[in-house]
Amino acid sequence: MQKFEQFLLDNLPISKSIHPTYQEALCRMLEAGGKRFRPALLLSVVNAYNPLLLDGARHVAYAIELLHTYSLIHDDLPAMDNSPLRRGKPTLHVAFDEVTAILVGDALNTYSFEVLSNAPFSDYVRVQLIRELASNGGLNGMVLGQAIDCYFENKPLKLEDIKILHINKTAKLIAASLKMGAIIVGREKVSQSLYDFGIKLGLLFQIQDDILDVTQSSLEAGKLTNNDESKNSFVTILGLDKAMSEANILADELTIELENFDECLKIELSVILLKYINRHK
Ligand code: IPE
Ligand code: IPE
Ligand code: MG
Ligand code: MG
Ligand code: MG
Repeated sequence: MQKFEQFLLDNLPISKSIHPTYQEALCRMLEAGGKRFRPALLLSVVNAYNPLLLDGARHVAYAIELLHTYSLIHDDLPAMDNSPLRRGKPTLHVAFDEVTAILVGDALNTYSFEVLSNAPFSDYVRVQLIRELASNGGLNGMVLGQAIDCYFENKPLKLEDIKILHINKTAKLIAASLKMGAIIVGREKVSQSLYDFGIKLGLLFQIQDDILDVTQSSLEAGKLTNNDESKNSFVTILGLDKAMSEANILADELTIELENFDECLKIELSVILLKYINRHK
């Protein structure tokens, strides 16, 4: 992932103008780091099947990270989760102002597709990648999830609806990261099973995020925790113990499903997933 970090630094959004802080604000959350979970997933699929395509794949991994970073910047806005801390840094609406946070989010969203459109692959592959990112990150993906999440604050949902909320908000982009890796290496057959695996993985990832909200301090998490009380988080609705058993069920299922993948993919994914598919005790 060192090469990915370098790629990101070499391709930060650039906008020189009379605006005194826009350029700095554009880069702030990208440079602040984060787990880079989605890029790691995509690159692991490419590495498993065709490491020669890794250089090109970094454009795509970066595009996903740009869209994800935009989603976090907007998620933290006062109108949404009203959070002062992200990736260990003051959020953009705190460090700058709300206008800046909204517009930087907009800019990273569209820059994501600019980066993707410049990825060194055939037009056919690029169009497929653009479609995957747009459909999973957009109106019937992450954005829908965020809409449901915010609309149903203080309105408890049924477990099946909570799953739909989290599948959209979080799991679809994670599933798309795996599938886009398969598209890059031309493995259409494995792309659907990777997507399905990714939906389950994304759900587990969000349950664990909800668990961290009540078990970690803001300092440990690098973001505001204990902030989900009014949300349909797994912990708020199920309680911590049940949320943990739900996570364990998913972790067990994923461990079994991992076995069905090609050996090369299994090895690559296991390295990244080890800490996520560990059971809670
Ligand atoms: C946070 O995503 C929002 C969720 C979807 C749970 P990450 O936990 O991947 O955040 P970063 O990228 O590491 O900051
Ligand atoms: C947000 O989920 C997921 C996004 C699509 C940004 P959360 O609101 O739980 O994410 P955190 O806990 O603030 O990172
Ligand atoms: Mg949120
Ligand atoms: Mg949030
Ligand atoms: Mg959260």
